[in-house]
Amino acid sequence: MAQNPLRRILISGATGKQGGALIAALTSHPTPTIHIYALTRNPKSRSAQALASNPNITVITGDFSNPPAIFAQIPKPWGFFSVTNPMNAAREEAQGKAMTAAAVAAGVRHIVFTATDRGANSDSSATVVPHFASKFAVEQDIISKSKESGGSYTFLRPVAFYENLSDDFLGKGFVSMWRLNGSSSRIKFVSTKDIGKVAAEAFLNADAEQYKNKAIALAGDDISLAEFETAFREKTGKQLPETFGVVGRGLRWALHEQLGIMFDWFKSDGFGVEVREVKGAYPFLKDFREWLRTESAWRKA
Ligand SMILES: NC(=O)c1ccc[n+]([C@@H]2O[C@H](COP(=O)([O-])OP(=O)(O)OC[C@H]3O[C@@H](n4cnc5c(N)ncnc54)[C@H](OP(=O)(O)O)[C@@H]3O)[C@@H](O)[C@H]2O)c1
Repeated sequence: MAQNPLRRILISGATGKQGGALIAALTSHPTPTIHIYALTRNPKSRSAQALASNPNITVITGDFSNPPAIFAQIPKPWGFFSVTNPMNAAREEAQGKAMTAAAVAAGVRHIVFTATDRGANSDSSATVVPHFASKFAVEQDIISKSKESGGSYTFLRPVAFYENLSDDFLGKGFVSMWRLNGSSSRIKFVSTKDIGKVAAEAFLNADAEQYKNKAIALAGDDISLAEFETAFREKTGKQLPETFGVVGRGLRWALHEQLGIMFDWFKSDGFGVEVREVKGAYPFLKDFREWLRTESAWRKA
């Protein structure tokens, strides 16, 4: 019997956290049904070179500023994993939409777009956070382009990544910015490895009811800063990495568009997904303690 040809998918953000996790999930599958085209701006980077050593991955060079040139490198692409760059929300929206247009023009049938949870009404709410609103606009554009093309989509809507917690300036700044909301203030978190697993399922089961034209919010824990601190101390024997409040305040002010508005929104609104509900569908979603134990930089060797 003739073998089905492998489906070709473009994975953007391939050298990053979510795209990398998707690639890990797909390449660990016992019978590959997908050939991966991994996008990077720098094929000489260590992470791109590591990807290139896998025969099931073709590394391609490109930039979100020129989407047609990216898709021109892939013969008959079937799928597209879309990650956007949030530093400038207007540009994120424009590039996200241009990537969708190029994907559809190249014949892509299924798009998995990783956006973000946007509170109680993610389907209709853009929120006041600029880089959440840009993702909402990219989602709306995918819905309308898919209707026109007859293709399908899955939206992933993760909450904050545990990986924001790192033992460096950024990680310490994250905790300091959170502290300004108060020790009892809560944030929901998810592991990017777990996002990658769900993204892989969305490609492998694109026609299933669970994934076809659906949005899936993802969270593994709903935790206050006080609980987060206790868990960190208990699991690692160390104090939570943190810097001075004045630094947190400075970051929220200097990066108002990217971080300040978002931390205000964490306090006023917050993510909407119910952790218990989503764990019903994806029991592997890690809570903070499990992430510390298995994936974090503080895990025991
Ligand atoms: N941090 C959180 O808590 C959180 C929560 C929810 C959603 N998000 C969203 O997640 C997204 C980021 O995902 P991530 O953290 O997985 O990514 P990441 O680890 O920050 O990596 C960024 C990836 O994007 C690629 N990239 C950046 N600019 C590009 C460009 N102009 N053209 C082509 N590729 C480009 C990079 O590739 P090269 O460098 O190899 O070219 C890299 O693979 C953002 O939209 C963010 O808003 C974050």
